[in-house]
Amino acid sequence: MITIKVRQNGPYRFEGDDVTVVDWNGQPYEIVKLPIALCRCGASKTKPFCDGTHSKAGFEAAEAAVPGSEDKPATQF
Ligand code: FES
Repeated sequence: MITIKVRQNGPYRFEGDDVTVVDWNGQPYEIVKLPIALCRCGASKTKPFCDGTHSKAGFEAAEAAVPGSEDKPATQF
């Protein structure tokens, strides 16, 4: 099972043992280590992966599934 965590003011973090990221041609990116984080701020120099630039860029996206809730692990189904 894969859990995708939307990080507060940060990337999408994919947690799971079997994650594959492919480009538009279906070619897989090399995954060096897990978990992986995919950029959602648009500022990463290593897209589609997050390189931490969101912090320097001041990216803000704190929407939660339940408005007003704290940053905590997503519910597992
Ligand atoms: S979300 Fe981390 S660099 Fe974009």
